[in-house]
Amino acid sequence: MKPHNQQLGLRRLRLNPLIRELTREVRVAAEQFIQPHFVIDGISEREPVAGMPGVHRETAKSLLEQIARDLDAGVNKIILFGVPSEKATQNFDFSFTASQIASIKQRFGERVWIAVDVCVCSFTTHGQCGVINDAGDHVQNAATVVELARAAVEYAAAGADCVAPSDMMDGRVAAIREALQNSGHEQTVLMSYAAKFHSAFYGPFRDAADSAPKNTGNIKLHDRATYQIDPARPHDALASALRDAEEGADILMVKPGMPYLDVLAGLTDAIPLPWAVYEVSGEYAAIEALAEKGLASAPRAHVEAWLGFVRAGASIIISYGARHARQWLNDSQQ
Ligand code: PBG
Repeated sequence: MKPHNQQLGLRRLRLNPLIRELTREVRVAAEQFIQPHFVIDGISEREPVAGMPGVHRETAKSLLEQIARDLDAGVNKIILFGVPSEKATQNFDFSFTASQIASIKQRFGERVWIAVDVCVCSFTTHGQCGVINDAGDHVQNAATVVELARAAVEYAAAGADCVAPSDMMDGRVAAIREALQNSGHEQTVLMSYAAKFHSAFYGPFRDAADSAPKNTGNIKLHDRATYQIDPARPHDALASALRDAEEGADILMVKPGMPYLDVLAGLTDAIPLPWAVYEVSGEYAAIEALAEKGLASAPRAHVEAWLGFVRAGASIIISYGARHARQWLNDSQQ
């Protein structure tokens, strides 16, 4: 049967703001957002992050001030990236990040939900996401997973509500879940970067988190291709997500967002867990760059990207623009 309005014209439901508002099929809400924060050991003043206006590498003090301002703007969920000043190759010291979690909890208590990124790329001398073998040509899975599980327990003990492994080692979700269980942190949420692709869109982040792969010493690795998912391998993303769900992840993630909407749509259909999407630094900065050239309205372009994520099935959006979401969504839905 032909839908009634096809005979009469589709433009009737586009005619004015109220009918458009009434007939929308998906909506984006400010409470779906998680705001990322970078906190850097050993800097005396906060520093802007290139390409992302309004995003900073925070000091311990400025981090708390920023979180307080964000709370006023309605942002009460964060993901924290701690960057220590001392780099190592193993036996990493997670205490700087853990103490930031503790001080956020102490200041804001239950008013802020804290997720923390679990990875070692900001902790290593070489910028790779794990422990490298003596020959310098391989990230060792088992040795890395031990470090990640130790980090997760320290962060949970410091008061993190959620640990979010972003390293892409095999078996890390099971190891973290078990370590949390054994240390009395069975209530800590585990959000896995399950479908994390080997992307060119992580640039501004790597500057901010001091985590770009570097060729120091005898390191022969140039990129993260041996552990992050190849952009042409959606089935690898499916396998990774199924595996992480089975190993005990509570929330799964697709990252980046815009180039992987097909993956997001497929995975949210296939696996009945809450799905997050990470609008990564490079895709956020791309919109900002377009706007800076006068070629787009940044708020409208960001909202359009966010709508795409929700259409594709995401219920959680990690975005550097989280602190603007309430305002931008409000303005764009007029
Ligand atoms: C760490 C990590 C990265 C991002 C989140 N966690 C960088 C990477 O894998 O190279 C990227 C986030 C962004 O670009 O905003 N492993």
